[in-house]
Amino acid sequence: MSQNDINSKYVEYLNEALSAENAAIDRITSRIGETPLPQIKQRYQQHLEETRMQQDRLSQIITQLGEEPTDSKANLPELKPPSTMMLKKTIKDTIKSVTDDKKDNPLPEEMEFLKIKQDVIIEGSEIVSYEALIEVTKRIPNLNGDQIIPLLKQSLDEEMNMKKWCTDNMPMVVDSLLPKILSAVSR
Ligand SMILES: [Fe+2]
Repeated sequence: MSQNDINSKYVEYLNEALSAENAAIDRITSRIGETPLPQIKQRYQQHLEETRMQQDRLSQIITQLGEEPTDSKANLPELKPPSTMMLKKTIKDTIKSVTDDKKDNPLPEEMEFLKIKQDVIIEGSEIVSYEALIEVTKRIPNLNGDQIIPLLKQSLDEEMNMKKWCTDNMPMVVDSLLPKILSAVSR
């Protein structure tokens, strides 16, 4: 295997991480637009900037290896209720649209709660991705690891801080959303 082949394989892993960051930009942008919680909006705005820098770091490493940074977008991990539950909801939604009974509608608060949980899962997947990438980087021969690893570690730290912020703020999120969710079921 030539050094070129090895570098190309390595760049595949970098581009895999970059495609996740590309998708994350869209995801965070839409979350900033839709969340009713100002604390979330503010922290996600910061993470949007961080995500742009993470894209730049990966692109920089890829370009220095003489390859092309991808503009493709990965499918981010999703948290989906079981399909039977979704089906029930769809049937209920259909009936409700006829009967105008709003009780079974997914409330905006319910959707927000689901999406915040998804956000944390996405950050977790980014952490796994950077941790794996750092270990791969250490093992690829003839790379400028002294320059690459600190860049990847910086992105890893940002992802870890973001995930920690989400976890630390889960009580605030539940305090903000649960009362509306509960009052809707008891109507
Ligand atoms: Fe992130």
